[in-house]
Amino acid sequence: MDASAFSRALLDWYDREKRDLPWRGARDAYRVWLSEIMLQQTRAEAVVPRYEAFLARFPTVEALAASTEEDVLKAWEGMGYYSRARNLRRAAQKIAQRGGFPQSAEELEKLPGVGAYTAAAVASIAFGEAAPALDGNQARVLSRLLAFEEVVDTPQRLRKEAAQLIDRERPGDYNQALMDLGSGICAPRAPKCERCPVSAFCAARAGGEAQSYPRLPPPIVKREVALTVVLAFWNGRVLVRRRPSKGLLAGLWEFPSFSEGTLADALPGARATGELSRAKHVFTHLVWNMRGLRAEVDALPEGMRAVDAEALKALPFPTALRVYREIAEKALQTI
Ligand code: ADE
Repeated sequence: MDASAFSRALLDWYDREKRDLPWRGARDAYRVWLSEIMLQQTRAEAVVPRYEAFLARFPTVEALAASTEEDVLKAWEGMGYYSRARNLRRAAQKIAQRGGFPQSAEELEKLPGVGAYTAAAVASIAFGEAAPALDGNQARVLSRLLAFEEVVDTPQRLRKEAAQLIDRERPGDYNQALMDLGSGICAPRAPKCERCPVSAFCAARAGGEAQSYPRLPPPIVKREVALTVVLAFWNGRVLVRRRPSKGLLAGLWEFPSFSEGTLADALPGARATGELSRAKHVFTHLVWNMRGLRAEVDALPEGMRAVDAEALKALPFPTALRVYREIAEKALQTI
């Protein structure tokens, strides 16, 4: 493939059609980095309001470095993958300590929460380094362009090819053009090849089978867990506890719950007073199939805190428990 004709076609299209996103045009590394972390598992449209609110709360990397973990978790609430928020704060502390951002992908990658993709995105957009921001989207686009026959179980399988193709004059725009192409046109299913600015370069399209790339490994089997979530009331307040500081949803708050045994084992002395809705939450490797129980207790069990509606609102809570949190808030207002 003629790499320079390809990137000219891609960048011409980007200059005409690029999505207007608030971090575009920013060369401030803090803004670029923050947007890239938020965009790791969340769609750009959903990130926009969260990005602006987060920046209003923490306008500089120094402000973020000086925050508490609970403040950052609160500002992150609803976006999921809370380790991203914890790493963001730890990375901000390192950056503030060293007096500014590292300026190469290699150095950026040493920051907590910054993988090869994010390091390359920040280095290319903020510092003009020709580093391919190779994520699943870019890998999908490239594997189609090249009709790449090997299994792409990680985007890094295409590292060599990506490094050969990247535009050396405008690497940040090139990376973001591939992101836009991957999200709007070269979609996982039903790619819109008739609207693609680089379809003339696409080997998969020439073979009439864009959709069958990338070649993928068999899907992950998710473990299913049945969980009973207990809204236990005491003195007009509801019981919550903090999750362990390591593992799934580390450090977030939750209602007591159990997956084996009975209410009496999980919360001695509790009396069930009603059934609540069922809910399901799908994590990357795990599914929670939840049912809810309403209960009363006569004493505050060890390790628990009892909170009113306002205090409940202020705690960082996993999105997985949203249904129960809403029920608890309503119940607390009518107690
Ligand atoms: N996804 C990840 N980074 C992005 C960016 N800079 N623009 C649009 N979508 C993205």
